[in-house]
Amino acid sequence: MNTLTRRLYAARAQQAAAPLGATTGRMPTAATTPATAAATAAPAGEHPLAAYRVTREPYWRAVGDEVALYEAAYSVRMPMMLKGPTGCGKTRFVEYMAWKLGKPLITVACHEDMTASDLVGRFLLDANGTRWQDGPLALAARYGAICYLDEVVEARQDTTVVIHPLTDKRRMLPLEKKGEVIEAHPDFQLVISFNPGYQSLMKDLKQSTKQRFGALDFDYPEHEVEAEIVAHESGVDLETAKKLVHIAERSRNLKGHGLDEGLSTRMLIHAASLIAQGVAPLAACRVALVRPITDDADMRDALDAAVTTYF
Ligand SMILES: Nc1ncnc2c1ncn2[C@@H]1O[C@H](COP(=O)(O)OP(=O)(O)OP(=O)(O)O)[C@@H](O)[C@H]1O
Ligand SMILES: [Mg+2]
Repeated sequence: MNTLTRRLYAARAQQAAAPLGATTGRMPTAATTPATAAATAAPAGEHPLAAYRVTREPYWRAVGDEVALYEAAYSVRMPMMLKGPTGCGKTRFVEYMAWKLGKPLITVACHEDMTASDLVGRFLLDANGTRWQDGPLALAARYGAICYLDEVVEARQDTTVVIHPLTDKRRMLPLEKKGEVIEAHPDFQLVISFNPGYQSLMKDLKQSTKQRFGALDFDYPEHEVEAEIVAHESGVDLETAKKLVHIAERSRNLKGHGLDEGLSTRMLIHAASLIAQGVAPLAACRVALVRPITDDADMRDALDAAVTTYF
């Protein structure tokens, strides 16, 4: 059994173990498709996208008019680009929107070894010979899902161009190896995300790719809203959440002055979750905030000082 077949097996076994729409196996975040394993064949009788339905409402705290804008963009099937720093809510937002629009969501974590075949599909060898296996992009286009390419700049540009015919008026996906052209299902939409801060010139998107998308900018929400999110997600009280947000704001001022990025909402939720488990706030902040973000001794001291100001 080669690696791909093994991974397919594992993914199928996981799917089979999960009752429809009821367990973590069907939770939105678990629906990420490893781009290198197009784990797409649905059990007999099941809709090919059944595993990708977002069955439970993901918590989304609106921060502006992003929901209405996204709905308008979806209504004209405009491909969308979500930009923003790590851990600020891009993935959660697309999960929420997929739920709100009632569309399945196929998420692909992009990486530099990803090939066009990983997205589009390939022939697999099995006991009965060869059979075609749709990749996540082909699956989404064929049956009508929102396809979310996470961190798309990580993929090589020759991989990224396969999305071009899907993201202009043609809305089609040629499967060259199979000799088929998929006309995108009316429900299909492509969404990509990236973190503008991490881009180097080598890792930017081509203009011809960028200019096919509408874009929404994401950032860490303002103080009160971020505290509300942290409290909701972790179970700590609002006062504690506000203290954590103060610490994060201090760290964000250090961006470019020794820190590559400030503390993200995700990190605050980590720290808050430890506190909610009974870990002392100082220890929780050290483990979940200070140590992960920097190895620089002075920077750790500066962040520790911010922590002790509030706890
Ligand atoms: N507006 C919001 N409403 C609800 N939860 C939010 C919001 N913003 C951030 N979060 C929380 O922050 C966490 C991190 O967000 P998410 O995973 O979506 O980040 P991301 O922008 O996709 O990061 P990355 O670029 O690293 O993938 C979420 O799991 C969620 O708990
Ligand atoms: Mg994400």
